[in-house]
Amino acid sequence: MSQLSNLSPYEQFLRDTFHADDPALEQLQVQAEKAGLPAISIGPEQGKFLQVLIQLTGARKVLEIGCLGGYSGAWMARALPADGKLIGLELDEKHAAFTRGQWASLGFDGKTEVRVGPALETLPGLADEAPFDLIFIDADKNNYPAYLEWALRYSRPGTVILGDNVSMGGGLVDPDRQQNGGIRGMRNFAEQMGRDERLVSTVIPYPDGIAMAVVK
Ligand SMILES: C[S@@+](CC[C@H](N)C(=O)[O-])C[C@H]1O[C@@H](n2cnc3c(N)ncnc32)[C@H](O)[C@@H]1O
Repeated sequence: MSQLSNLSPYEQFLRDTFHADDPALEQLQVQAEKAGLPAISIGPEQGKFLQVLIQLTGARKVLEIGCLGGYSGAWMARALPADGKLIGLELDEKHAAFTRGQWASLGFDGKTEVRVGPALETLPGLADEAPFDLIFIDADKNNYPAYLEWALRYSRPGTVILGDNVSMGGGLVDPDRQQNGGIRGMRNFAEQMGRDERLVSTVIPYPDGIAMAVVK
């Protein structure tokens, strides 16, 4: 299950035509639901988008902050070359264990790794793995501005940085929701991404806003 489950006829057409999940990834989502994981992963549209980006840029080293059940990571690991590496950071031990199991059964054992703990505590330990070619931020919203700083530290010119949920279901621009910590974090993140002179950035508004930047 992903954030986007009620599709319009056009969205359904696009999903069927360009972004169909394969049975193994669909099965991952079914297992995640059975295991009681929240249905807050990206959808196949974003998974395919991440794959295209990885292949377009020739990315070999990818960092994901927020794995949940490993769905977005599975899309990315599939796009990586045999000697590529995906490191996922995940707070929740149960999510991390589920992700490890899924990635192993999909055959990604050699090229994926999950590190457990609050990302702000695990990020400092990644200095030897940097720079990354692509960094996907999809975790706790109030910490996105700090994650962006880490992403910049762990980048090189050409690194692609992405952050999901810059819309927050419209909350980013809803005057009644500006006191919410997650909304404030995402708004700060969006403003940093959009204005940072070290980045060339844009946003894909659909379905909940993926901010995307390339490091100059
Ligand atoms: C939206 S889900 C990630 C979805 C996943 N990227 C996907 O699309 O398949 C957010 C994940 O971030 C994790 N998370 C929350 N706070 C975190 C933190 N401080 N450090 C690392 N992970 C965190 C949550 O446990 C959850 O699994």
